[in-house]
Amino acid sequence: MSDAPLPGVFQLTPLNPEFSDDPHALLDRLRDACPVHRDTQAGTFILTRHGDVRGVLSDTTMWRSPERAEEAALIQRALVEQRIEGMRMSEEEIRSGILLMDEPDHMRIREPFAKALYKRVARSKATVQQVVDEWLAPLMDRPRFDAMADFALRVPIDVIARILGVDESRLSEFRDWSEGAILGLNPFRSEQETARFVDCANKMSVYMGELMARRKAEPKDDLVSDMMRLQAEGAPLNNGEISNNLQGLLIGGNLTTTDLIGNAIWLLLKHPSELARLRADPALINSAVEEVLRYESPVDITGRIAPRDMDVGGCPIKQRQSLFMSLRGANRDPQAFPDPHRFDIARKDAPHVAFGGGLHLCIGAPLARLEAQVALTSFFARFPNVRLAEPDAKPQWRKMPFFRGLEALNVLA
Ligand code: HEM
Repeated sequence: MSDAPLPGVFQLTPLNPEFSDDPHALLDRLRDACPVHRDTQAGTFILTRHGDVRGVLSDTTMWRSPERAEEAALIQRALVEQRIEGMRMSEEEIRSGILLMDEPDHMRIREPFAKALYKRVARSKATVQQVVDEWLAPLMDRPRFDAMADFALRVPIDVIARILGVDESRLSEFRDWSEGAILGLNPFRSEQETARFVDCANKMSVYMGELMARRKAEPKDDLVSDMMRLQAEGAPLNNGEISNNLQGLLIGGNLTTTDLIGNAIWLLLKHPSELARLRADPALINSAVEEVLRYESPVDITGRIAPRDMDVGGCPIKQRQSLFMSLRGANRDPQAFPDPHRFDIARKDAPHVAFGGGLHLCIGAPLARLEAQVALTSFFARFPNVRLAEPDAKPQWRKMPFFRGLEALNVLA
C-alpha cells in the first residue's frame, strides 16, 4: 500500500489532475486506509464506506445548515459567507434554500415544493420528449457534433424552464444566468467567477420576483403559478422562500442532469457490449441510468453536521464537526457492490447514493431519471452508428469541484 499522505477534500476535486484522471485510485485507498478520515485543513471528516454514508444520510437527527458547524469547518463556513457577499436580494431570500436548511423550516418549505413538483413531473414525459426531439433534429444532418454542447447541456435547462413557466423570449438569458449561478456551488472559484455568480444570481432573483408577481395576478399552467396558488391557499411560505427554492430547482437540476446524460453517452460508447445489450433490450434503460448514476455519479459529495457527540464507523465525532459523505466513493464500495468497478447496465439490487438520502434526498431525482431515460433512448435510436470521434483521447473532465462531467464529447454520427 502507498505511504503517500491520505487525500483531503481539495485533493478529491478535479482541480487535482490525479483525481480527475482516476478518482477511484484515491477513493479506494482512502476507504481501505481510513474510511472515516479527518481532513484537518478543510476541517471535516470524509466518509467513503457505503454503510457509513447511508447511515449518516438516513439519520434524520443530523444537521445540514453550515452555520451550525464548528469554526474549523472551513468549507462549510465558506458556504455561509458566500451566500451573503454582493447579493442584492433580501436576507430572507438568501437564507431560505432547502439544501442548506434544518428542521422544522426545511420540511415546511420542502413539502409543498415536492408535492407540486412531483405532480408536474408525473405528467411531463411529453414535454421532455418534445425538448429532446427539438435538440436532436438539427443534429441529424451533421456527421460530427459535440454531444455535450449540442445536446446534454441543452435538454435539462429547457425542461425545467418549461416546467417553471419561464417566458420563451427570456430563455437564452435564463440559460446564461443559470450557468453563472452554478458557480456559487464552487468554494474554490476565482474572483472573476464570483463576480459572474453574483451578477447572475441577482438577475435571476429579479426575474423570478417579476414572474411570481405576474403569475399571482394571472395564473398559468406552470410550477410558479402552483406555488403562488399554494401560498394564497395558506401554505406557510413567504415570497423569498418561494423565489429562492424555485431558483434552487433550476440550479440543482441543471448541471447535474447534463452530466448524467453526458456521462451515460460516454460510458455506453466506451463499453460497446453494454450499448449492444441496451439496443437489443431497450427495457434495460431504467437500470442503465441507475448504473450510470452509481458508476459515474454526477455529484461527488454531500455534507452533514454532527448534532451531538457520536460514533460513526467506529470513529468518535464531536458535536458541530462536519462530515462529508463521498457519494462517489460509497458507490464503488466492494462491500456494497460486487465487482464495483465493472460497468453493468443490468446490475440488480444496486442501492447507490448518487441522490444523497434521508430528509435531503434529491427532490429532483424523478425528473433527472425521466430526462436521462428519454434523452438516451432517443439519442441512441436516432444515431444507430454513433461512435466517439477520438476514441483514444483522454476524456476532458470539467474542473468544477464536486461535480463530474465532460467539457466536450465529440462524436461521429
Ligand atoms: C442526475 C441529476 C441529479 C443529481 C445526481 C442530484 C444530486 C443531489 C444530491 C447529492 C443532493 C443532496 C442530497 C443530500 O444531501 O442527501 C441533492 C439535493 C437537491 N437536489 Fe438534486 N440532483 C440531481 C438532479 C436534480 C434536479 C433535476 C433538481 C430539480 C428539479 C434537483 C434539485 C435538488 C434540490 C432542490 C435539492 C435539495 C433537497 C433538500 O435539501 O431537501 N436535483 N441533489
